Amino acid sequence: MHLHHFRAAGVSVLLECPSDALPAILHWGRDLGPLGAGALADLAAELRPRSDQTVEVPIRTALVPESRTGWTGLPGLSGHHHGEHWSPAFTAVTYEVDGQRLTATATDPHARLGLTLTVELDPSGLLRARAELRNGHDLPYTLDALNLVLPVPGNPTDLLDQAGRWSKERIPQRRPLTVGTHLRENRRGRTGADAATVLFAATADLGFGRGQAWGLHVGFSGNHRHYAERTATGRTMLGGGELLLPGEVILESGQTYRTPWVYGAYGHGLDEAARRFHDHLRARPGHPPAPRPVVLNTWEAVYFDHDLDRLLDLADRAARVGVERFVLDDGWFLGRRDDGAGLGDWYVDPAVWPDGLHPLVKRVRALGMEFGLWMEPEMINPDSDLARAHPDWILRTGDRLPPPARRQQVLDLTNPAAYAHIKERLLALVAEYDLDFIKWDHNRDLVDAGSAAHAGRAAVHAQTHAVYRLLDEVRAARPGLEIEACSSGGARVDLGILQHADRVWASDCIDPVERQDILRWTAQLLPPELIGSHIGSGRSHTTGRRHDLAFRAATAFFGHYGIEWDLTSLTDAELGELAEWIALHKRHRALLHTGAVVRVDDTPEGVRAHGVVAPDASQAIYEIAMLDRPATWPPGTIRLPGLDPDTVYRISPLMPVASHGAEPAWVSGRLELPGSALAAAGLSVPPLFPDQSALLHLTAVRQDRDGFST
Ligand code: DGJ
Repeated sequence: MHLHHFRAAGVSVLLECPSDALPAILHWGRDLGPLGAGALADLAAELRPRSDQTVEVPIRTALVPESRTGWTGLPGLSGHHHGEHWSPAFTAVTYEVDGQRLTATATDPHARLGLTLTVELDPSGLLRARAELRNGHDLPYTLDALNLVLPVPGNPTDLLDQAGRWSKERIPQRRPLTVGTHLRENRRGRTGADAATVLFAATADLGFGRGQAWGLHVGFSGNHRHYAERTATGRTMLGGGELLLPGEVILESGQTYRTPWVYGAYGHGLDEAARRFHDHLRARPGHPPAPRPVVLNTWEAVYFDHDLDRLLDLADRAARVGVERFVLDDGWFLGRRDDGAGLGDWYVDPAVWPDGLHPLVKRVRALGMEFGLWMEPEMINPDSDLARAHPDWILRTGDRLPPPARRQQVLDLTNPAAYAHIKERLLALVAEYDLDFIKWDHNRDLVDAGSAAHAGRAAVHAQTHAVYRLLDEVRAARPGLEIEACSSGGARVDLGILQHADRVWASDCIDPVERQDILRWTAQLLPPELIGSHIGSGRSHTTGRRHDLAFRAATAFFGHYGIEWDLTSLTDAELGELAEWIALHKRHRALLHTGAVVRVDDTPEGVRAHGVVAPDASQAIYEIAMLDRPATWPPGTIRLPGLDPDTVYRISPLMPVASHGAEPAWVSGRLELPGSALAAAGLSVPPLFPDQSALLHLTAVRQDRDGFST
């Protein structure tokens, strides 16, 4: 039986590849070292499952587990030909290996199904797999599910995934891993504010820099599932795939269905697991180019009040403080005076914009900024000319409309006429205004979403793929056009959408206290340059809390920087302070957007700390944020992970630190310490008030392999 051993960046994947059964992963996790054929065979014999008390043969867990092997957990493939062939048996398999990519081509000769499995280990150590099913039978094959399963070695004890809601996305939740299934199913027709994002099985000591974690992410923006299963025989599996609605995929003879990529990120600590996603994304040829332009988005500045003079003033002030991309949000198209009408009517409203958007666009460009525009192409308001002309272009089941959400419905992009119409509108707007950027929004769930164009059948699968195609066609229309994926804030954060978009909007909540955690956990999947990160107004529009500019600006500092604040209400002094922050970000964004993200474990109560370390560890920036009043005073120390232990760093504040008490020595900018000491002992947290933070810049001053002495 053939074994294939892939190794990259400290990760090993050992695959068992029989010719009469689907491939199985025998090991995925810490690097096994350079094993020869004999050692691999011996190890495989150790790792192969043994017979348990239920069946007389060992139960293999293939990448797509089959019930015919005795497997009683969630099956990989579920489906049937009119009730027949419901239990697949892929018994003829051939393999091809290309570098660190394995392709298995399998046949179930009885059911006449073909299955192609692709597994690859990226240079970042990120594992990914997908499956393609082909119906070779004359009868149509109803596909219910096609999940991919990654076994977790060892004895993980904990599960960690994410939950959330509108304006509070990606909140971590942790629980013991017990026998049974932990199932996170999403039927929202979009990724969801409450998406699992990455589901980890982990050791009990898991932290950002310690313990072991195996994470699974389904890269898909429609319905999907993540699950962890622990069997009575003590095996742990992570699984996932698209969640198909009844009858949604029926393969006619010769037709195929392909799963989304299912990603596996192993890490010694959560930071290492996150870094595999980041490195994988950064290595893509289409990764957004540096530097990321600083954005001004008009939403929280003016909402639907599109007054040209005010917007021109906003643009002038934006340019003055250093903004490089001006984005006009919702409210510019026909009948859109509030959120109740107009979606679908993608024509600039002459009642508000008698000369089109041209006067604004001209000024924005004259000021040296790029111009971007908000759209919500997948949606339609019943109160729109489009809905009145084409009521059948709304996703619905039978005669009933789905319950309204934000007074809108979903446009049926699986209907070729609706698709062509919306594409024409998008391309016309891109051409007319030479758009540099589209903020592509999506503000409701797809529920009860059938397509009249397809006999009322469930349409989330086809709709999601239509959206991906539309995004690609629009992006291709103008070189350099970038698209932001937004969905009621941060409800579309997944690696599927990021194959078609250039950044995500993490949340509608810009309150820096909330953002500390939203950004911290969004970073589990995405590097900072892909996360829209804006400075909001002094009083948060979603929480009512008030914060100093320094705290708002420092919190947003690490991401794709921007402003979402009515600059026309600012004094010259405030504009000056804001300009300083933007200039500071520009000076450091090359580091922030290429470095390794580190989050600090064991911070004192109420304190959060994280940072970015340059790829060559020659410099780093950390933020220490005080989110509460600590029970003890002074607030204690934090350790700085990620630095080179043999390099001596000078530590200095990036901005003046607002200390309320005796300042630690580093605040003077004269402290120098080696990375080893900073990782082991760390620095004192400055005496900050709650809702204040300090940014530290560390720069290498010299190598010191023999020990540091002054
Ligand atoms: C929801 C988005 O998350 C906001 O940023 C804003 O674009 C509104 N939609 C506009 O309707």
